[in-house]
Amino acid sequence: MPQKGLRVRLMKTELVKISKDSNLKDALLPLAQIIKRGGLVVFPTETVYGLGGDATNPDAAKKIYEAKGRPSDNPLIIHIAEPSDAEKYAYTKDVYYELARHFMPGPLTVILKAKDSVPKNTRGGLETVAVRCPENKIARELIRLSGVPIAAPSANLSGSPSPTNAAHVIDDMNGRVDAIIDGGDSSFGLESTIVKINDDESLTLLRPGKISPDELSLLGFKVEIASAVTERLAEGERALSPGMKYKHYAPKAEFVLLFGAINAVCDFLISEENEKTAVLWYSEELELLRASSNRIGFFDFGSRKFPEEQAHLLFSMLRELDKQGFTRVYAPLPATEGIGLALYNRMIRAAAHKIIRL
Ligand code: TXA
Ligand code: MG
Repeated sequence: MPQKGLRVRLMKTELVKISKDSNLKDALLPLAQIIKRGGLVVFPTETVYGLGGDATNPDAAKKIYEAKGRPSDNPLIIHIAEPSDAEKYAYTKDVYYELARHFMPGPLTVILKAKDSVPKNTRGGLETVAVRCPENKIARELIRLSGVPIAAPSANLSGSPSPTNAAHVIDDMNGRVDAIIDGGDSSFGLESTIVKINDDESLTLLRPGKISPDELSLLGFKVEIASAVTERLAEGERALSPGMKYKHYAPKAEFVLLFGAINAVCDFLISEENEKTAVLWYSEELELLRASSNRIGFFDFGSRKFPEEQAHLLFSMLRELDKQGFTRVYAPLPATEGIGLALYNRMIRAAAHKIIRL
């Protein structure tokens, strides 16, 4: 549950902008010092921004949960500079190195059995730990200079859409962290793919991302998709990943997904009179939809042919539409092929499974 009302002691937050011309090492050294001292630094990654602290320091993990308003049974991903650094914090397996060969550094998180070097509260009390080696140069250099793995959830307040640029982070985290690094837009825009390695070396997909189950299967990995990726958790069902049981990504507006032919969508919108309603839709069909109502707001969600455009826009549009004061937002139910599955997973959760089939 979001705990935005939670009172945290506000601090001064330093904003550090890093551009292509910056000398990374010079710019990041003072920020690495903050991590080493147990402070919090928000940094960019290729997926979303992360709220980072020293993964080996239980007090840093506690501060992360507090700053985010996150329940402390929802574990943190530890970010490493090199795939082989996982050895220090987890019991790896051959299949981990096969995954690393294909996808690290990159938007993949792997769940492994934890070693005692990772404090219990970093991993939400679990026997396992989530490990990820990000590709973003700023993220990797920050981890390397810190000399410790960096525990980092997405840098949003618990329950809100993940931040994909520094302005989003400032909205949620100003006064709650020591520093925020502005490294531009996250290139992908949805969080990493999470897989758990099972005892028989097969994989269970716990959260879809840019790396899709189809891609994993094509490379010969045996992968099963956890039911909670596409379905609601049944009453009393145990979540394979604690994050699955919490409401996620939700905008303040009521978010509703529409499924049906474009003509049916037009007919549906004709009866929608509310000026506080927005429609987030594929570029190709936007003109057609606009003709159905001049009262509601229409916003471009990128081309239907390129789901990566929707991935890039989703979280920032949800934030933007809230800022503009819309109270209801309609968007298309995405197809589940390739990275569409990641979109589908985030969108049905943001919509709390509200789907209108036309
Ligand atoms: O792309 C990403 O993964 C971003 C960037 C910052 O790296 N991080 C991110 O962290 O999305 P977070 O904390 O927002 O989401 C991590 C998810 C949570 O749902 C958590 O429950 C799950 O990973 N998780 C972490 N450790 C786990 C474990 N040992 N077993 C199962 N699930 C775990
Ligand atoms: Mg998150």
